Amino acid sequence: MDKRVLLKKDMKEKQELVNIILDRYLPRKDEYPKNLHKAMRYSVFAGGKRLRPYLTMLAYEMYKEEAEAITPVAAAIEMIHTFTLIHDDLPDIDDDEYRRGKKSCHALFGEGEALLAGDALLVSAFELITLAEIKPELRVRFIRELAHECGIEGLIAGQMVDIESEGKKVTKKTLQYIHENKTAKLINLSLRFGALAGGAPANELAALEEYGNYFGLVFQIVDDLLDIEGDPAKLGKSIGKDEQVQKATFPSVWGVEASRKQALELTEKAKQSISKLGDKAILLDALADYMLNRKS
Ligand code: IPE
Ligand code: IPE
Ligand code: MG
Ligand code: MG
Ligand code: MG
Repeated sequence: MDKRVLLKKDMKEKQELVNIILDRYLPRKDEYPKNLHKAMRYSVFAGGKRLRPYLTMLAYEMYKEEAEAITPVAAAIEMIHTFTLIHDDLPDIDDDEYRRGKKSCHALFGEGEALLAGDALLVSAFELITLAEIKPELRVRFIRELAHECGIEGLIAGQMVDIESEGKKVTKKTLQYIHENKTAKLINLSLRFGALAGGAPANELAALEEYGNYFGLVFQIVDDLLDIEGDPAKLGKSIGKDEQVQKATFPSVWGVEASRKQALELTEKAKQSISKLGDKAILLDALADYMLNRKS
């Protein structure tokens, strides 16, 4: 089978697996206080590519037979990702009304409710990791690394510099900092957790991390480009906002053409990083191209 076809099939299967765990773990909509649980479920099940859990499950399956044991960890990462989207859309952050093809969480439930639904997804994700049937020392390690990479030395720090850079001229170094922190670190960690739980040898883990860093950066460059040239119907979110509020993006700092070129070059570097892993990395290789050319 063509590796692209294989990739799509595998992504769909793993999306379904992760959705089952999310559905099982998240509180029912009719549980008290209803609006909290409704808002959490609304945003988690509004759609989404499930890229991060896919990376976790894919990396795990490179070393172990079935991705089942790692699925709660993958689902927890998706909960954290959804928390970041809910908060990212809030009026005081990016003020976006649409997400995943629907009204954003605050637009439907209210700002306070969205803030709390995001908080609940974040903390519940850590609880879910403690329930995963993986080695206890890995559970502790994952919790620590997630807190680190999503927190003050990662995603939240990246988001902080992102909002503080609005309307300002930023250096290439600052832009790199924002993208690496707000986006690439969680993507890289998703892959790393799968590889660690699968028992990847140190040299292969290093290769995967190199891939993850490049891939994560490309992911945000493409997101920036899609904000200029994407189709809102396919993207499921509005476009043009980055330019309107003068966000620090790759196209605003490097220009559109140079950003496309960088995305292409970094994708090649990502693929090069895992070339020594042979056949077991074939889907990761296909995924890098797929995400470079994505329209949603
Ligand atoms: C959007 O992430 C936020 C960024 C880091 C660019 P995704 O493009 O993975 O969003 P979903 O999960 O598919 O909605
Ligand atoms: C999002 O960056 C990064 C996080 C949510 C952590 P953007 O603000 O560019 O993402 P979109 O375009 O709203 O999805
Ligand atoms: Mg943002
Ligand atoms: Mg945003
Ligand atoms: Mg964006």
